[in-house]
Amino acid sequence: MNTRISRQNANNRFRTDFHSHCLPDMDDGAENLEISLKVLQMCREQGIKKIVASPHYYLHKEKVESFLTRRQIAYDQIISSPEYNSSSLGIDIIKGAEVRLEKDISFTDISPLCIEGTRVLLLELPFVPYSPWMTDEIWNLSQTSQVTPMIAHIDRYIGIYKQKHIDRLLAERYCVYQVNAEALRFKKVIKSVYRMAEEQYQLVIGSDCHNLTVRPPNIPSAHAKLRKSKAGQELVDYMLRCSEELFAKG
Ligand SMILES: [Fe+2]
Repeated sequence: MNTRISRQNANNRFRTDFHSHCLPDMDDGAENLEISLKVLQMCREQGIKKIVASPHYYLHKEKVESFLTRRQIAYDQIISSPEYNSSSLGIDIIKGAEVRLEKDISFTDISPLCIEGTRVLLLELPFVPYSPWMTDEIWNLSQTSQVTPMIAHIDRYIGIYKQKHIDRLLAERYCVYQVNAEALRFKKVIKSVYRMAEEQYQLVIGSDCHNLTVRPPNIPSAHAKLRKSKAGQELVDYMLRCSEELFAKG
């Protein structure tokens, strides 16, 4: 792997979760405040310091303004709760969204849905076979809304898209790619992600957690798995550095 990968973070852990459905009653994630707080507590126990709260957003179902209002209410519920304000929950919640890529979405200014403090937009591709309109739309979005697309759970497409379509998706070098922690259990995924790191793609990790049971916060398990090999350790260091750079750039 390229020597640009720093080893000085070797003892660090992933401290930012870039993909989380932890806000209460926003989507198919945390159902209510109680579950949200438990999810956050679990994240904190796992060493997470910063969470990008990324509820699903579908342009065909809701206007951006309406979503932002709902998200603010959900966020306020957490930060005004005694549990969050007690010293036990020292965790930063950064507002974001997981925006479903749709045809013609680039005609709408979607930039208010970027991860707070950045111009990075978490984008989820639809669960249909790859079609060229997708990469056209990603490019158009980056131009019309002036955002850096972050492709959510790139590992998911490694499993379902043909290689030539994955290659097409990865040709969008201006994007950031988010990997789900869960997927890093699989050697095939680690291999693909490692290859991306070697080629200096911008890579970050997210739990995509929805609740405490079926899809709980799980970043430390990915960390532990990666630490078992030299390649995995290098990958951890590389992804940590990408995370830091992403917030530093703003
Ligand atoms: Fe998600």
